[in-house]
Formats: sequence, C-alpha cells, structure tokens
Amino acid sequence: MTAVRAGVVGAGYVGLTTAVCLAERGHHTVCVDVDPDRVEQLRNGVAHIDEPGLPELLRQGLAGGTLEFASHCAGLDDRDVVFVCVPTPSGPDGSADLSAVDNVVDELAGVLAAGAVLVLKSTVPVGTTRRVGERVRSAGIRAVSNPEFLRESHAVYDFRNPDRIVVGTEDADAAAVVTGVLGNHAQTFVMNPESAELSKYASNAFLAVKISYANSLARLCGTVGADITDVTRSMGADVRIGPHFLAPGPGWGGSCLPKDTAAILHTGRRACVALPEIESARRTNAAQPDHIAAALRRALRVPLHRARLTALGLTFKAGTSDVRDSPALTIGAALSRAGATVTGYDPRLGALDQSRLRAAAVTPVDDPYLAAKDADAIVVLTEWPEFRELDWTAIAEQAPGAVVLDTRNLLDAAALADAGLRYVGNGTRSGY
Ligand code: UGA
Repeated sequence: MTAVRAGVVGAGYVGLTTAVCLAERGHHTVCVDVDPDRVEQLRNGVAHIDEPGLPELLRQGLAGGTLEFASHCAGLDDRDVVFVCVPTPSGPDGSADLSAVDNVVDELAGVLAAGAVLVLKSTVPVGTTRRVGERVRSAGIRAVSNPEFLRESHAVYDFRNPDRIVVGTEDADAAAVVTGVLGNHAQTFVMNPESAELSKYASNAFLAVKISYANSLARLCGTVGADITDVTRSMGADVRIGPHFLAPGPGWGGSCLPKDTAAILHTGRRACVALPEIESARRTNAAQPDHIAAALRRALRVPLHRARLTALGLTFKAGTSDVRDSPALTIGAALSRAGATVTGYDPRLGALDQSRLRAAAVTPVDDPYLAAKDADAIVVLTEWPEFRELDWTAIAEQAPGAVVLDTRNLLDAAALADAGLRYVGNGTRSGY
C-alpha cells in the first residue's frame, strides 16, 4: 500500500472513525471540523463519540504524527484524497438536506489541487456525486461516491473489517486511488455513482424492512400462541434469509434508518416509482408506541394515565450513548403524553444528551434500583446486556407487584418470576 496525504471533512461518527483508521493505515490525515471546541478537544486526544477502540487510535495517530485536526478546509490544499463525511439530515419532506455537503464541496473546489479525488462518504441521494463531479471538474478534481456501511458502536471494527467496499465512479484511476487508500478488499465493487449512492439507501431500507417484518410477526406470535424467538431462529437458519436484524423490539431508530428510509421514498416519489415495502416498514415502525402503550394498558393494574413507569435503556441500541431518534425516547414521550410518569435509567446516562430526555419528559435516574422504585411497570427498551445481571429480587422489593414489559426479549422470564415479578415478553407465549 502506498501512503497518501488524506483529508476528512466532518468529525462525526463516520468522519472521525475514517480519520483515525486512515491514520492507523499509515496515511497522513488531516481531519477538519467546523466546531473549534471539538477540534481543540480532539487535538488533546479527547474523543466526543463513544466508540470502542477509537480513543486509542486517536491518541496513537496524534502521538505518531499521522493525524492532525483543523477547523477549516484551507489546509487541505496538498491532499491527494479528501473524504466528505458531513451530515445529510432529513428535510421536512423526507429529502436529504444537502446544504452541509454543498458548502464543503464549494470550499474544497477552491482549495484542492488538480488531480485530487473528492470522495463523498456522506449518505447522499442518487445524482449527487455526478452533480458534484461537474461542479469541481474545471478545477481538475474528480468526485467519487464511497458510501459508508459502519454501525455505531462497532464503527472501528466495521471500518477495519468491511463486508464490502463500494466505489462509485466511471474513472478507473480515481477508483484505484480510493481502493488503494482504503485497502484492497475481496468484496470491492466498483460501479457508477448512481448505483453506489442507491446501494447505501437500499441497504438501510432493507434492514428497516427486515426489522419491521420481525416486529409485525412478533405481534402475530403474541396473539396466536407462537414464540417469535423460535420463529426467527427457524427463519434465520435459512441461508437465503439469514439470522441478523430479525430481533423484535420497540422499533428501529438512530440517526440513519429513519432518515434514509424517508430519503429513498422521496427519491422514489420524484422518479414516480412506488416503494410500498419501505412505506409499510415505516408505518409498522410508527405504530410501535401505540402497540406498546396498548400492551401496558392490558398488563398494568392501574390506568396508564396514573401509572409510574420505569424505562430501562434510553439509547437507540446497546453499546452507544446516542439517543438521536431513539425509539426508547419516542415511546417514553408517548407514554408521558398518555399521562404516565416516566423515569429512565441507562448504563450511559451521564453521557446522554439530556435535552432530548427533557423533550421526551423522561426523568433520568442514575441508579436502576432507584429508577424502579414504586414503579407499576418496568419497560425494557434497549438491549443492554447488563440488565440481565441486575438483582431482580431487589427490584421486586423496590416495586412490589410491578410488571416487566420486555420489548427486546432480553431478560430471563423464569428468573423474574422467581424474583416475584410479572414478566411480559414481546411476541412470546406469555407476551404481548
Ligand atoms: C445502520 C446500519 O446498520 C449501518 O450499516 C449503516 O452504515 C448505518 O446505519 C448508517 O447508515 O450510518 P446504526 O444506525 O448504527 O447502523 O444502527 P443499527 O445497528 O442498524 O440499528 C438500527 C436500529 O434497529 C436500532 O434502533 C436497533 O435497536 C434496531 N434493531 C436492529 C432492531 O430492533 N432489531 C434488530 O434485529 C436489529
């Protein structure tokens, strides 16, 4: 591998992971972020995101001189390749808001040297890379799509061990630059930019469809005496289906699946192509709070509007401190609106964005036993493994007669029954 001079714009989950991993691969990397405080922290070796292995790589890159941080793009003028990793949030109509990408491209067009490759890692709608390519062509810059498939909480692992690398360009030399930088990988697919861009949305939408299907099946299981765990175990053993993303839960969330399903539907509308499977997956997901509220109404011994509820888990999935678009908070907010008092505990509570907890009317309590005190129901919303290790007898003493509604089927039903708690699983025989 030949080391190159790399740049990364945007130090979020994707950008910072990309920067520290490129530096680890021996590329001198300059990572730019508009937030000067964030840049200062990063220069001091302090990461603002919670990813296993990332703080070590950050310190290693800084100490080895392969990683630098800057608060503007001007210093990227000597870079061979620059990865754009800025957010593309949902607009009101579901479309991806490209203003951050466009601003960065405008800046880079005036900074990068002729021959540089500008790589769009941000998730962008079909047609964006070609449009950006036209914008920067007169400066001799090539634009390439390289969608990122890493998962939060496994970001460094996924960067080092990607299932596939997708490179969207019709310029063979630019494709070789990008694959060279990222490392040659058996599953490297070079395709036109439109296919690369769409493959990202299509993948996230398929994951959403898969989970919503499991959530619909769980509802069916709950009413016909079947057990979703057995049903998905059987389905997942079929190699054509696979076992992943079939776990039922409170619904899918996070910063990607909701926004990317909205954006692909927007693309479909503009192209006059219906995508009913994705529409349906979003409808199923949107109905999850009502489904859970209905299950609680059946299980509670007091009316929901007078109930004291404890939410166990507030992040959108385990292993992260991210609460953006967290189903746990969506459900907490819906239950609060229904009149219930909701307290919440999360193993990463101290690191969570407290303003989002306030907006959901969830009162944080930094101790699971205190959070459960006097609860009428304890609702497991995030699959943190440590919830299995709680002293459920002590919780039963704090909340006598409480029902535990386990949306993730995380806990051991028999252990909870032994502790004296009523247990309701999701799509199980004694469940909802
Ligand atoms: C997702 C994709 O998995 C990544 O491949 C992609 O790169 C990323 O979006 C992105 O576009 O940046 P992430 O948002 O980190 O990654 O989260 P996931 O692990 O996909 O989980 C999404 C949601 O689905 C979570 O709320 C999770 O709890 C839920 N989920 C997942 C289930 O309810 N059941 C499952 O079986 C799996």
